[in-house]
Amino acid sequence: MQISVFGTGYVGLVTGSCLAKLGHEVMCMDINEKKIQTLKQGIIPFFEPGLRRLVLKNVEKRKLFFTSNAEDTVKFGKVIFNCVGTPSQPDGSADLVYIYQVAESIGKYINEYKVIVNKSTVPPGTAKETERIIKENLKYNVEFDVVSNPEFLKEGAAISDFEHPDKIVLGTHSEKAFRLMKQVYLGRLRNYLPMLETDWETAELIKYANNCFLATKISFINEIANICDKVGADVRMVAKAMGLDYRISPKFLNPGIGFGGSCFPKDVRALIATAKKNNYQPKLLEEVDTLNMRQKTILMPKIKQIFPNLKDKTFCLWGLSFKPKTDDIREASSLHIINELLNHGAKINAHDPEAMENTKKLFQDKINFFNTPEEAAQGADSIILVTEWDEFRNLNLADIKKTMKDNKLFDGRNIYEPELVKEDGFEYYGVGRK
Ligand SMILES: NC(=O)c1ccc[n+]([C@@H]2O[C@H](COP(=O)([O-])OP(=O)(O)OC[C@H]3O[C@@H](n4cnc5c(N)ncnc54)[C@H](O)[C@@H]3O)[C@@H](O)[C@H]2O)c1
Repeated sequence: MQISVFGTGYVGLVTGSCLAKLGHEVMCMDINEKKIQTLKQGIIPFFEPGLRRLVLKNVEKRKLFFTSNAEDTVKFGKVIFNCVGTPSQPDGSADLVYIYQVAESIGKYINEYKVIVNKSTVPPGTAKETERIIKENLKYNVEFDVVSNPEFLKEGAAISDFEHPDKIVLGTHSEKAFRLMKQVYLGRLRNYLPMLETDWETAELIKYANNCFLATKISFINEIANICDKVGADVRMVAKAMGLDYRISPKFLNPGIGFGGSCFPKDVRALIATAKKNNYQPKLLEEVDTLNMRQKTILMPKIKQIFPNLKDKTFCLWGLSFKPKTDDIREASSLHIINELLNHGAKINAHDPEAMENTKKLFQDKINFFNTPEEAAQGADSIILVTEWDEFRNLNLADIKKTMKDNKLFDGRNIYEPELVKEDGFEYYGVGRK
C-alpha cells in the first residue's frame, strides 16, 4: 500500500521506516527542509538504535522516500499518518497548530478517498476538529475518514516497540477505515496483532491515561524513596518487595531524580489542562507534576551540605540524556543540575554516549565534554550519575577514584551497590538508599 507520513521526528521516522519494512511504499514529509536534505543523504538527525540501518535499507529498496512537498505527500498515500509535534503551551495544554496545519494541507490537496491517521499525542476532540478542518478546506468532493491511532513507542526501543506492540488502538467510526488500518499494520509480514477498536475520544484519552499512570508510578516510588531517606529505610528493598506483588509489577518502580523526556511531563500537563478546560480539577495529576519538578531538585541540597561552597569545585556528570539509549535531552534532569551547578560557580565535566552534541547546543563551552567516563572524572571533586546508561554500570571505580581530587559519588539513579562503591573508596549518596 502507498502510505504518507507527515513529520520525520522520532515517531514519524520510526513509523515510516517500519511500515516500509512491512512491505509498504512510504513517503515521509517534513516542513524542515534541512532535515529532509539530511535524510536524503542517509544521515539520521537523532539517535535511535537500529534506525539508521532500517532507513538506509528501505531507501535502497525504493520503499522509503523523503520530501518537503505537502501536495505530493497528500496525493501519494492511501493512508496518511500525522506524526508532527504537539509541544506544551505555557498553560500546559498541547499546542495543536502543527496538527491542524497538516489537516489544512490534506483538505487542500486530497483528491480521492483516503484515511487520515492522527498518531501524535493529542487531546480528546482533536480527531473531530481534524475532520472539520479537512472538510472546510476541501477542493474536491471526496470522502475521507479520520482515525485516532496514538503511538506508544519508547525512545531507545522504538523499532522493537513498533514491531511487537502490546496494543494498537484504533479510534474510528468507519468500518472501511478500520479494515484498511488492519492491512497497514499487518503488512506482508504479520497475521496477528492486538488491535482495539474504539471511538475517537476514547482512543485519544487512552494515550494520556497510559503515560500519566506510568508517570504517577514513578512519582509514587520517588515519594517513598524520599521518605526512606528520612526514616533510614532502603527503597531498593521496598520497591523489590512491592514489585513481587503481581498486582503492582516491578516495572517503573525505580526511584531517582525525576522523569523527563518529550512525553511524560508534557502529557501529564496536557491532561491536567484538558481536565480543567472541562471543569474538573485533576488533583492527583497536578501532584504528579509538582512532585516530579521537586524530585529534579533533590540532589542539590545533599551536594550543598557536603560542599557548602561550590565555586571552583569540579563535578563530573555521567549521563545527560533524559534516559539511556537516546540523545534526547528534552526536560532531562541533567539540565536542572547543570543550571544549578553553573549558577553556583561550579565547573562541569560531562560524558554521555549520545547526548553530548545536543547538550553542547544549549551550553556551548560552559561545560567540558569528554569522550569517556574515565576522562570526565579525572581531577573532579565529585561524580553525579544522572542517566543510567549501561556504559556506567561496569566501570573500574577504584581506578577512577585514584584520578579524582575528592571521593563523593551521587547516584541519581541508584545503579551502584553502596557497599561495593564504598570499598572502591567513594562516599556514596543515592536516592532513598541506606
Ligand atoms: N518521542 C516519543 O517517544 C513519542 C512516543 C509516543 C508519542 N509521541 C508523540 O508523537 C508526536 C511526535 O513526537 P516526536 O517526538 O516524533 O516529535 P519531534 O519533535 O521529534 O518531530 C516532529 C516533526 O514534525 C515536523 N513538523 C512540524 N510541523 C510539520 C508540518 N506541518 N508538516 C510536516 N512536518 C512537520 C517537525 O519539523 C519535526 O521534524 C508528539 O505528539 C509526541 O507526543 C512521541
